[in-house]
Amino acid sequence: MSGMIPIKTDSEIDKMKVACQITASILDAVGEIVKPGVTTEHINTFVHNMILENGATPATLNYHGYPKSVCTSVNEVVCHGIPSEYHSLKEGDIINIDVTSIKDGYFGDASRMYLVGGEGAVSAEALELVQHTKNALNAAIDIVRDGAHVGDIGAAIQEYIASTGKRYGIVKEYTGHGIGTQFHEPPQVLHIGRKGSGPKLKSGMTFTIEPMINLGTEKTVLSKMDGWTVRTADNKLSAQWEHTILVTDTGAEKLTQSLNGQDY
Ligand code: MF3
Ligand code: CO
Ligand code: CO
Repeated sequence: MSGMIPIKTDSEIDKMKVACQITASILDAVGEIVKPGVTTEHINTFVHNMILENGATPATLNYHGYPKSVCTSVNEVVCHGIPSEYHSLKEGDIINIDVTSIKDGYFGDASRMYLVGGEGAVSAEALELVQHTKNALNAAIDIVRDGAHVGDIGAAIQEYIASTGKRYGIVKEYTGHGIGTQFHEPPQVLHIGRKGSGPKLKSGMTFTIEPMINLGTEKTVLSKMDGWTVRTADNKLSAQWEHTILVTDTGAEKLTQSLNGQDY
């Protein structure tokens, strides 16, 4: 993740847009099937098939041995939850669904939170956590422009989370990342930081921002059982939202913006 940060040409950016829009359209569609009783394996099958229908490839499948085409991270799972036919969603669960499509050699990576059974089904503290995490991502995207620094992104997230007055934990071990012809390129995008620190952002850079915010401790535990599933150390809830972003002269473009006219 260290080294030169690639600047994409216009034709590369066009390809990034196609991959990212496939990912966004899948995240739009998968919302329709997230319901109590549905297994995370069913979500995997749905996402896998939709990626293939778009002439794309699921980036996570066999990535360093990861066995599935999507990550499904429920409740206290922070990230990298593995879909399973034995795991049915329950009313009131919160789930992060993280999709990465490869199209024409370019990667599009995004994730969103879904409320199982709808807004009325989840606890007030869960709903707030999900909202605040989305707001934290948007606060970070708002400061991105040519000339800003990578450290400004983490600083914006920290500042927003502090402004909520909640004692949330910001996960440190997993970060955003440059993305393009590789899943994970430089720069590493920390979700904490100091204004003015880190490499300067330049128009044409593409990277993800993907804060993971915990209701309790920031500490996480990696499953010894499967080597992938990351949980909060206190088993309290965790939320995450992720976009692939393009730096422009005046700001940032959310390449994985919903195509449904939603505000994500
Ligand atoms: N999509 C994840 C990210 O945002 C990476 C998942 S890698 C996997 O960076 F192997 F766990 F699928
Ligand atoms: Co992702
Ligand atoms: Co990512």
